[in-house]
Amino acid sequence: MSSQLLTLFLLLSAVAIPVVTSRQWCMAMPNATGEQLQANIDYACSQNVDCTPIQPGGTCYEPNTLLDHASFAMNAYYQSHGRIEDACRFGRTGCFVFIDPSNGSCIYYT
Ligand SMILES: *[C@@H]1O[C@H](CO)[C@@H](O)[C@H](O)[C@H]1NC(C)=O
Ligand SMILES: *[C@@H]1O[C@H](CO)[C@@H](O)[C@H](O)[C@H]1NC(C)=O
Repeated sequence: MSSQLLTLFLLLSAVAIPVVTSRQWCMAMPNATGEQLQANIDYACSQNVDCTPIQPGGTCYEPNTLLDHASFAMNAYYQSHGRIEDACRFGRTGCFVFIDPSNGSCIYYT
């Protein structure tokens, strides 16, 4: 690699990294109980959040697990409620991930 290319590369990575790490998604902690996960879904989906993707026939209905549905609902809530840490607390059953959890046609909101 020539030194000009190396400089360009370093410059681009310095610019790109903060942009990439600023994207985060709220997810359910895998050790949360089924009751907690269900309560999170019920709460998030009652707060002006579009939960149709996790309903039967929706793009995020599969995998049909409480953990996946709760993660989708909790992230949707977090993204539409100011993206503040408090909006992903859910009684300590929420956590952040920095890799897009979207899967196929199931798109997690940003
Ligand atoms: C789940 O794991 C987190 C992080 O390891 C821990 O702080 C929390 O107490 C655990 N919650 C339960 C219900 O086990
Ligand atoms: C992605 O979706 C497919 C189809 O519903 C599912 O079988 C798979 O487990 C999902 N992958 C993850 C990482 O959730």
